[in-house]
Amino acid sequence: MSATDDQPIIEAPRPAPRRLGLSGKLLLLTIPLVMIAGLMMYVPTIANFRINRLNDRLAAANTAALVLDAAPSGMVPDSLARQILKSVGARAVAIKMGQQRRLLASADLPAAIDHDIDMRTLTVWSAIVDSFETMLETGNHTIRLVGPAPGGAQFIEVVFDEKPLRQAMYRFSRNVLLVSLGIAMLTAGLVYLALHYLFVRPMRRLTASLVGFHENPESSARIIVPSQRGDEIGVAERELSDMQRDLVSMLHQKSRLAALGLAVSKINHDLRNLLASSQLLSDQLASVPDPRVQRFAPKLMRSLERAIDFCQSTLSYGRVQEAAPVRRMILVEPVVAEVRESAGLAADGSIAWISAIERGLTVDADPDQLFRVLLNLVRNAAQALESRPKDDAAALQIRITGRREGSVAIIEVSDTGPGVPARAREHLFEAFQSSGRPGGSGLGLAIAAELVRAHGGDIHLVEGTIGATFRISIPDRPVELQSVRNERARA
Ligand SMILES: Nc1ncnc2c1ncn2[C@@H]1O[C@H](COP(=O)(O)OP(=O)(O)OP(=O)(O)O)[C@@H](O)[C@H]1O
Ligand SMILES: [Mg+2]
Repeated sequence: MSATDDQPIIEAPRPAPRRLGLSGKLLLLTIPLVMIAGLMMYVPTIANFRINRLNDRLAAANTAALVLDAAPSGMVPDSLARQILKSVGARAVAIKMGQQRRLLASADLPAAIDHDIDMRTLTVWSAIVDSFETMLETGNHTIRLVGPAPGGAQFIEVVFDEKPLRQAMYRFSRNVLLVSLGIAMLTAGLVYLALHYLFVRPMRRLTASLVGFHENPESSARIIVPSQRGDEIGVAERELSDMQRDLVSMLHQKSRLAALGLAVSKINHDLRNLLASSQLLSDQLASVPDPRVQRFAPKLMRSLERAIDFCQSTLSYGRVQEAAPVRRMILVEPVVAEVRESAGLAADGSIAWISAIERGLTVDADPDQLFRVLLNLVRNAAQALESRPKDDAAALQIRITGRREGSVAIIEVSDTGPGVPARAREHLFEAFQSSGRPGGSGLGLAIAAELVRAHGGDIHLVEGTIGATFRISIPDRPVELQSVRNERARA
């Protein structure tokens, strides 16, 4: 045993049961994680969306430029110019060819340009930054977009309003958000299901087995049956199963040893009582004048004393069931008489013995066990009386009464002693718990109670009496009508 085994284990306070199990936590964690992944995808996507929109604008402007090119001397009628610009979504389109700059402009051309975008020099970073700037701006600004032109032209310019672009970007962002939310939930669901079957369910099985085993560690029915998994959970299941098996067999072995211990205690206890009775008889041998008797009497007494001491010292802890009583209808009076003889009441007759048993009272009991019950009670009464101070003038009495109430036989053992001390009352009928007497083991009443209860009866201390009164009630076994009828039929 290691040094730490001897130290008291301070039980850590148990955390209050949480409402959210492993599965719930997994679900809650997966949704934001997938959302974060979606957000990281969103940044380049929105920049790309804007570039596409701008390219579309340039492509449309290029088509408009073809009209300019085709127009005689570059002049386009106003109404046609308006229609073309409307379909392009621009306020003006200009194309630079050599030294010449051809312009297709609407009447409401803005006075100033707010932003210049040159598609020929655009970088990834500026595309991203510009996208967010566009979305964060308010009001209507004007953009001049410059891009490469087809044919021999140097470049093409488009002037248009920023607001429609911004609104298109908002719509796109909302759609991305909805789609990524949907994907997040779907992914979370799939991840949850996968983890639930792979980890959570086996973990729950392990936990349930641990909890069940903790409730009843002696039952081998609670041992976990390991699955065939080859992973860490499979190893944990097999290790737990082995551990539980070892524990169950250890506990069984311990309880067998404990049972053996109590069996020895009980044998010792009653053997000691019987030896004490023999000692009393051998005391009387000392007064026989026969020299041979005088020679062996002291030896006999010494060996009896040694036997009593031995019994006393070998009383030990444990637990065992008494043998089931072999019951029959017996007369109470002879048993009480036998108890009186064996109890070893003071030879000087200082203790008065009063027996008030109803004439012919019978009890449905095992005679040996009833004898042991009464002997324990009477010995306790005698010991209580003997402990009284010598100058106490009160009469020393042990009284046994017996009567029948219907099918229940009631026997009371009372004395005029000091009564059961308060500290002995708490665990009066529990083994090794109640002894309030020097030299007492605290087993007598526990044995008496176990024997009485094995008869379906009850034993208790009657409150409010002088001294102590113990009442035993033993009911007759119920008669089965069918067996009575069968017996009558046989007769
Ligand atoms: N009639 C009684 N009067 C006063 N106290 C009693 C009486 N009967 C029992 N007790 C108290 O109850 C305690 C428990 O009694 P119990 O017979 O179980 O054990 P014990 O007499 O101490 O030891 P033993 O195992 O030798 O009988 C006694 O020690 C005593 O203090
Ligand atoms: Mg006793």
